[in-house]
Amino acid sequence: MIPYGKHLVDEDDIDAVVDVLRNQFLTQGKVVPQFEQALCDYTGAKYCVAVNSATSGLHVACLAAGVSTGDLVWTVPNSFVASANCALYCGASIDFVDINPTTRNIDVSALENKLQHAASQNRLPKVLIVVHFSGLSCDMQSIRSLTQKYSIVLIEDAAHGLGGSYQQSKIGSCVYADMTVLSFHPVKSITSAEGGAVLTNQSGLHEKLKLFAKHGVTKDPEQYQGESHGPWYYQQLELGYNYRLSDMQAALGLSQLKKLDSFMQRRAEIAKVYDEALVNLPLKLPVVESQSQSAWHLYMVELTLHDRQNIYQQLHAKGVGVNVHYIPIHLQPYYQQLGFKQGDFPVSEHFYQHALTLPLFPSLTDEEQTKVIDTLREILV
Ligand SMILES: Cc1ncc(COP(=O)(O)O)c(C=O)c1O
Repeated sequence: MIPYGKHLVDEDDIDAVVDVLRNQFLTQGKVVPQFEQALCDYTGAKYCVAVNSATSGLHVACLAAGVSTGDLVWTVPNSFVASANCALYCGASIDFVDINPTTRNIDVSALENKLQHAASQNRLPKVLIVVHFSGLSCDMQSIRSLTQKYSIVLIEDAAHGLGGSYQQSKIGSCVYADMTVLSFHPVKSITSAEGGAVLTNQSGLHEKLKLFAKHGVTKDPEQYQGESHGPWYYQQLELGYNYRLSDMQAALGLSQLKKLDSFMQRRAEIAKVYDEALVNLPLKLPVVESQSQSAWHLYMVELTLHDRQNIYQQLHAKGVGVNVHYIPIHLQPYYQQLGFKQGDFPVSEHFYQHALTLPLFPSLTDEEQTKVIDTLREILV
């Protein structure tokens, strides 16, 4: 079975992890700060806090933004549940803005209308979390001007986005956002097994992110309330969590980051081959707008004539492991219980009904990709 996504770990990666195992610190040594600095250098962001998953990153980003009980957070339905759960962890309420059917990212005019209405009801969100779906950046410039107009904190869920760019900047640069959250889960652009990071250009947010990801505890005397008891002293200032990344994971991430550009090049090549080979099939193909370079985390097609379930099963029976991203969050039983229902976000629901994710990962061979294309053609034509 050709999977839809897969990590690519080589001997250099293995050596980097073994090196940590032979050294003094498995966690909280020098490799996590090195990985954080390398992520800043790559993306252009000023500050980075490495965490043990993007899920944790989204949680601490919401906490750093001050989200708490009674607040409202908005995101898109077309994402993994983590993009919305982070608001609920903080005791806030969640609502969604539908997606644009072409980009599959947040629909900026739907956002504008919803903001106008929310302002008139005095029910604006504190935070907006946009998702760079499949690795394609949202229209950040337009979104930023809307969030500035209404004083909303803007968080990018870039779990799919590391390596992609928007205008002249890398995703993660935080040029148009307050914070950007990355994921290093194995199918993502690079992996640290589990892992994530939050990037920001604001020192105040950086301090809060560090606190919330590390038990709310500081060893910085300048932040202490009252006097230090001595060199061993630390203080807990917030109710934080243990969301730290270990040095072993950071060593894998750091070694992988050196190969990110070559991974991106291979992903883009594979996407181009799909673009050209699938153009005459009854499929709606992904579109990349001219101001963006996608990180190509996912190559998603929509079936325009065929039943998705049937095609999914036929492809699997022939060894092509297509997948589906995502079941709209508001249709999950947990979210239905909160009052959301079928029909609330029709574009996301329509996309979900027809979408298929084709195999795309750096080690996919030309022969494997030809098999995917030929099998699709055989089934659809
Ligand atoms: C858009 C999005 N956000 C967040 C996450 C959570 O990432 P992690 O597995 O690193 O917690 C995922 C995972 O698939 C995702 O796709």
